[in-house]
Amino acid sequence: PSEEDWVAGSLCLYQGFWFPSRLLSGILACQNHFQAHTSDILLVSNPKSGTTWLKAILFALLNRAKYSTSDSQQRHPLLTQNAHDLVPFLELHLYREQENPDLAAFESPRLFATHLPYSLLPQSARDSQCKLVYLCRNPKDTFISLWHFTNKLRPEEKGQIPLPHCLDKYCQGVSEYGPYWDHVLGYHKASSERPEKVQFVMYEEMKEDPCGHVRRLADFLGCPFSEEELRDGTVEGILRVCSFDVLSTIEVNKSGKWTTGYQNQWFFRRGKVGDWVNYMSAEMGEIIDSVMEEKLYGSGLKI
Ligand code: A3P
Repeated sequence: PSEEDWVAGSLCLYQGFWFPSRLLSGILACQNHFQAHTSDILLVSNPKSGTTWLKAILFALLNRAKYSTSDSQQRHPLLTQNAHDLVPFLELHLYREQENPDLAAFESPRLFATHLPYSLLPQSARDSQCKLVYLCRNPKDTFISLWHFTNKLRPEEKGQIPLPHCLDKYCQGVSEYGPYWDHVLGYHKASSERPEKVQFVMYEEMKEDPCGHVRRLADFLGCPFSEEELRDGTVEGILRVCSFDVLSTIEVNKSGKWTTGYQNQWFFRRGKVGDWVNYMSAEMGEIIDSVMEEKLYGSGLKI
């Protein structure tokens, strides 16, 4: 079935999740052809969870020996290139452009991103020992961020899409890669069952203790910070380069575009926790809360 979506084009239901129809061929190609390596790292998220931020952090973390974040003479790749070019999405970039792309140019450990739900990951990504980092963000901010992004994609003359209509759809589970709760629950369960493979990270907790989270990510990925790195401020340097203020103001992120027409600047809006209150009434917030309470009941997960 297909649903005239509240995003752009149409959404279709595939194996229990809603996908933009235009992405289905890339999703199928990825499922059929992607072969995970043991050393691979996949960053997974619901759209608008802060993926751009974590892409940058993981890239800087894994490449810290090659690219220093403290050397002012050296232009770090994150300061001249968009994080989505440095860390491509499997189904949105690589397998969308080619049915079976040659990934030989990616150095080990390969770092990719995907929005695919756990149950729809390529078999080898679930079965192999590759690592998954799942980024989760509270549904109210994720929803508002998605609503803003949706408005960017609409022709100007159509105006903003009515928020109550979008809220209604979101709470029915109809949004890109939704239902939100099934997406989150799939990875939450996997992280409880296989903590050595799946790390579940909350955007809000990263905001609160970014240094602690970067260190935990490095431990999880098998590249912990040395005493010397901790003393010389490597963690802080990574966070500085990846900060909203730095990334949102560099030239490529102000003026660059994706091949699909998205503008890089759309991925940097406010980057705050709790911005939903500026767009939704308390009653609307309660609607999301009660849906989540019901859907997450018994999972042990509180968002
Ligand atoms: P808001 O719309 O709430 O501002 P994604 O990267 O998954 O598409 O998510 C986009 C959201 O992450 C946007 O949220 C964006 O502003 C926020 N974001 C982008 N870069 C960030 C950064 N460096 N630090 C914190 N949040 C960031």
